[in-house]
Amino acid sequence: MASADDVTAHPLGDAILARAAVLARHTDVAPADVPPGSATPLTVTYLTPAHRACAAQLVQWMRDDGFDEAGVDAVGNVVGLYRGTDASAPRLLTGSHYDTVRDAGRYDGRLGILVPMACVRALRAQGRRLPFDIEVVGFAEEEGQRFAATFIGSSALIGRFEPRWLDLRDAAGATMREALRDAGHDVDAIPAIARDASRYRGFVEVHIEQGPVLVDAGVALGVVTSINGSVRFVGEMRGVACHAGTTPMRRRRDAATGVAELALFVERRASAIPSLVGTVGIVQVPNGSINVVPGRCAFSLDLRAPDDALRDALVADVLAELDRIATRRGLTYVLDETMRASAAPCDEALQQRWRNAVAAVGQPIHLLASGAGHDAMKIHEAMPQAMLFVRGGNDGISHNPLETISAADAQLAVEAFSHLLAQLA
Ligand code: HGY
Ligand code: MN
Ligand code: MN
Repeated sequence: MASADDVTAHPLGDAILARAAVLARHTDVAPADVPPGSATPLTVTYLTPAHRACAAQLVQWMRDDGFDEAGVDAVGNVVGLYRGTDASAPRLLTGSHYDTVRDAGRYDGRLGILVPMACVRALRAQGRRLPFDIEVVGFAEEEGQRFAATFIGSSALIGRFEPRWLDLRDAAGATMREALRDAGHDVDAIPAIARDASRYRGFVEVHIEQGPVLVDAGVALGVVTSINGSVRFVGEMRGVACHAGTTPMRRRRDAATGVAELALFVERRASAIPSLVGTVGIVQVPNGSINVVPGRCAFSLDLRAPDDALRDALVADVLAELDRIATRRGLTYVLDETMRASAAPCDEALQQRWRNAVAAVGQPIHLLASGAGHDAMKIHEAMPQAMLFVRGGNDGISHNPLETISAADAQLAVEAFSHLLAQLA
């Protein structure tokens, strides 16, 4: 429990944590689905009522903080603008996403919206304006949980929203087009979201590290050098469902053991090179029964590397092994690539601004690559970007309700962001 001193020592950090807690009250998970005595999982997927409540809350806070404009665009991005003194000066773009994975932590994405908002709030309180506009975006969808598409909000912002996404269906069969319409959006207004990148000096994103590097190094802030590239697939292995008691082992075409063998290969192949990661995050026998040999098994692949050549070699080996496993076991499979993001080196000049800011707030400068994907890697396709990481508590765990940060570190993030603004001004 924070002491009275703690609360006053990090007022900006406390305010960030308090707002993250308020946002975390909105979740897709119905109370009836929560076992008695357990915490309600934080799950905010694209355009659900909880998602829209988060958007409304962010807009309200932006207005309270003194943004000149605040609203929600045609794909659900929350956009706040704090004008500068020179309308012709290139804008600074910043922000992160407010959607979450299932059973998520409350800082993934949200921290990167709340920190720049706190900086604008401080500028407004001081009656100050910078020479350039500050545009803060709460990206509507980065995680790819409800529909098989990721970076929907940041893709729209750089004019790369894919019309085919509108026909993607969620688990309940609703299309994205229907979800957008039900949320009151006009799909015909999506192309107009695209920004003219020449009007911007670049994009900066604050994000929790989501890993153990900063906590192991004992430092609060990290300057990101590059964002790993990744490819994702969803698929289904297909064999023959049959009697678990009467079918001899050598006569089976077991879809689940085929996926299990693939998962162990992914683990072995990705472990061979320290900077690679490979994950089979979904393994699911649809309508499985305890006494039926699985005839189908849904699975996913998430393969990442610091550069595209390493990533593509990993992908090629995994797909070749998938084929070998299926052939040897008499299985078939379907596989769809759902995401491909190139590795995104962070802009050197903006990185330097972050390094200066970290030093200015009295912190050691720690450089690190990002294993996680971020909206910055999508915005990277249109303009220079650089990221600041904030140390995670609980060994940096993320995509887990145990995800946490300290008020002191959140305070340092706001102070560093303010310093970056001062440098750019
Ligand atoms: O999966 C990721 O890297 C990010 O959290 N979307
Ligand atoms: Mn995430
Ligand atoms: Mn994130």
